[in-house]
Amino acid sequence: MQLSVVILAAGQGKRMNSDLPKVLQPLAGAPLLKHVIGTAHALTPGNIYVVYGHGGAQVQAALAHENVEWILQAEQLGTGHAVMQAMCVIPDDHTVLVLYGDVPLISAHTLAKLVAAAREGALAVLSVTVDDASGYGRILRDAQGGVAAIVEHRDANAEQLRIREVNSGLMAAPAGRLREWLLGLGRDNTQREYFLTDVVAGAVQSGNRVEAIAAANALEVAGVNDKIQLAQVEAGYRRQRAESLMLAGATLADPTRIDVRGDVQVGRDVFIDVNTVLIGKVHLAAGVKVGPNCVIADSQIGAGTEIFANSMLDHAVVAQNCRIGPFARLRPGTVMHAEVHIGNFVEVKNTEIGAGSKANHLTYLGDSQVGKDVNVGAGSITCNYDGKNKWPTFIDDGAFIGSGTMMVAPVRIGAGATTGAGSTITASTPEGKLTLERSKQVTVDTWNRPGKLDEQEKADVIARALKPKG
Ligand code: UD1
Ligand code: CA
Repeated sequence: MQLSVVILAAGQGKRMNSDLPKVLQPLAGAPLLKHVIGTAHALTPGNIYVVYGHGGAQVQAALAHENVEWILQAEQLGTGHAVMQAMCVIPDDHTVLVLYGDVPLISAHTLAKLVAAAREGALAVLSVTVDDASGYGRILRDAQGGVAAIVEHRDANAEQLRIREVNSGLMAAPAGRLREWLLGLGRDNTQREYFLTDVVAGAVQSGNRVEAIAAANALEVAGVNDKIQLAQVEAGYRRQRAESLMLAGATLADPTRIDVRGDVQVGRDVFIDVNTVLIGKVHLAAGVKVGPNCVIADSQIGAGTEIFANSMLDHAVVAQNCRIGPFARLRPGTVMHAEVHIGNFVEVKNTEIGAGSKANHLTYLGDSQVGKDVNVGAGSITCNYDGKNKWPTFIDDGAFIGSGTMMVAPVRIGAGATTGAGSTITASTPEGKLTLERSKQVTVDTWNRPGKLDEQEKADVIARALKPKG
């Protein structure tokens, strides 16, 4: 039986008090809806329909690259009405799974159970037992313990309000039957909306089996309606991700102080200190150590490499046993071979650095190709930009770049060459030789330190100095 997933994402999210449509609010840096779409894909359905409406153009633009079909719900008349819009394109013999764009942490594992029950002909609703059920629709069970109905918080009486088994809102059903139950919905409630949850009563009336499948935990069915719930879901997500890193062998200095915003893989005995943010696709091989306050995005770090405090890495590929930071910045296109040292206030961009090379202090290496066993002295800079074009610098194996060398690209420093401290190198230098560019040092015997001037004397000096010469 083909599976069609319907994701409800048309609501405004009034309680967010935000110009951003609710389903675009960020969780771990990605829109809520993107998390739901990702989980839906894990079930390999025939189709994923996203019902959109409020802020529609913005929602579609933000998720333009997703492989989904968009279904417009022009007027937001409730969750039942929203599903109805998608039913126009879903054949009766499909199984339908309904997800909410504002319930982002639902697991594919739990959804598979819902789908399996629906394939057996049941209306399968996902329930969860919570300590504080306020705001949720309550599950009403009959004398035999079967599911009888779901009553919304606002429509529940005092006795029903005490029920702690609640509806997550997510459900799966055979498409043909779901269509019939949806056609039977009314708007007889305080919000004057067609509630999806009311299909349960319809199923019960028609004698169809209703199964309540329990969610694994409250977090996976947590709905995000306001900024407090958004922060709670973010904290839960952070905890889950930290736990999976620990299970994979990472030691975290404090599991509550790490942010994992993407697909992060760790080897054994990785250590991560506090306040580190890992973004996108990150791989930390065995034994990698990450100091406090580092940001690592879309990077691969080789075994045994140490990254010291306050370093930022973005699209960097780093081999084993390197040392980076503190306060280093590796920008996109950085490739470091084994045992490279990049020290404090060193910026590297679009540069490959050969094994054993070092740039330990206050340096910029951009658009360059650095060989093996090169030493780049403090304050050296590849001058790669002429205001319009970027140019490459080649620093060959074994070169020694004296402190404060300006390498005006395009330029090559030959293998084993040395540049004198403070040189501005504008022409390529030969292998194995010392090249320097420096004006002659002079000592002025007649010079005296200035005395203290009064305001008028200072004004005269300034006026003379600011007059253009020549
Ligand atoms: C819903 C459920 C409630 C459940 C709770 C769990 C109903 C009637 N109630 O309540 O039983 O406990 O979720 O999170 O289903 N949407 C549309 N079109 C609409 C209305 C809503 O697409 O016309 C979308 C929203 O964008 C949102 C989702 O449906 O993604 C849920 O809507 P929301 O208004 O947040 O429902 P709740 O009041 O949270
Ligand atoms: Ca909600």
